[in-house]
Amino acid sequence: MKAIVFDQPGDESQLRIDEVAEPVVAPASVLLHIAATALNRADLLQREGHYPVPPGASPILGLEVAGTVIEVGSEAQGFEVGDNVCALVNGGGYAQRIAVDHRMLLKLPERLSFTKAAAVPEVFLTAFQALHWAARLERDDTVLIHAGASGVGTAAIQLAKLAGALPIVTASAHKHERLYDLGAARCIDYRSENFAEAVLDFTEGKGADVILDFVGGPYLKKNLEACAQDARIVSLAALGGARVPDFSMAPFLRKRLQLTGTTMRSRTEDFRRRLTADFRERIWPHFADGSLQPVVDTIYDWEQVDEAHRYMASNANVGKIVMTIGIIEP
Ligand SMILES: NC(=O)c1ccc[n+]([C@@H]2O[C@H](COP(=O)([O-])OP(=O)(O)OC[C@H]3O[C@@H](n4cnc5c(N)ncnc54)[C@H](OP(=O)(O)O)[C@@H]3O)[C@@H](O)[C@H]2O)c1
Repeated sequence: MKAIVFDQPGDESQLRIDEVAEPVVAPASVLLHIAATALNRADLLQREGHYPVPPGASPILGLEVAGTVIEVGSEAQGFEVGDNVCALVNGGGYAQRIAVDHRMLLKLPERLSFTKAAAVPEVFLTAFQALHWAARLERDDTVLIHAGASGVGTAAIQLAKLAGALPIVTASAHKHERLYDLGAARCIDYRSENFAEAVLDFTEGKGADVILDFVGGPYLKKNLEACAQDARIVSLAALGGARVPDFSMAPFLRKRLQLTGTTMRSRTEDFRRRLTADFRERIWPHFADGSLQPVVDTIYDWEQVDEAHRYMASNANVGKIVMTIGIIEP
């Protein structure tokens, strides 16, 4: 089969479509014809050589897929040839075919096209894990979501709203209108406003109960200022760098704060299956009734993978950048 490959870490110009070995279908897996995949920041980092492939994972880029079952392993239950599905995968999404454990599959409802479905698994599962498992989100909580226009951010806004919480986001000003449409209660332009002051102002001095952070070191002190008593901060990335100069622990003690770091890529297969099972039960039905929407910014054909990577690096997107691979829409 064909897949997108690269020989040495470097820029997007060296990504090319080439022949690779067919995936091996384990008894508990199904073989998918991939119709679409979607980009994640991790793809760019891996291409640059900054994201080592975890043991046992595919070296091929791509962490999520949507497509059609074309073969079913002898122990794979609940799926048959012809089913349209999407899944979080541990690499291997930038390819024509992939073998996926049946416990990771989500069956597509009628209204979800392949290009929309490919935009769901990585960002919605990450946001779900961060909000519900790590931060134990409660109804009426105020949630500060940094990088609100990112794929994960746009998923988190919708999940917070669905849970009856109040999402506040930071994002570039020209992206705010779209984020209000998705359900943000307040959008903060982090370039012109002090986000901690804006959060305290909006919450009448109380602060945020939950913060999803993607920026890291440069935001930690202001995150602590923006926290309410007993707040939970979930650290998902360090887009602005990881170091925190001249740091005091005092706010952690005074406000009884919790800080959790998490990365999806390093999680065990068992963790991902349990997360997918919980998501399938509590969240997935909301894509069928339309109360949750995959947010697709742009769709590229996989022959334009270099352009798609350049576009993500430019930070211009609101939501997901999807890539089609021999698509046949359901
Ligand atoms: N820990 C995990 O399990 C996990 C899982 C998935 C993704 N992630 C991470 O989550 C982040 C978002 O991923 P994604 O794929 O959704 O990204 P994305 O769609 O490419 O969005 C990233 C957005 O973040 C904002 N941004 C970039 N650099 C920034 C900075 N230094 N300060 C403030 N804002 C900045 C930009 O929006 P503005 O124009 O608004 O600045 C940019 O569009 C990435 O860092 C990714 O690695 C973590």
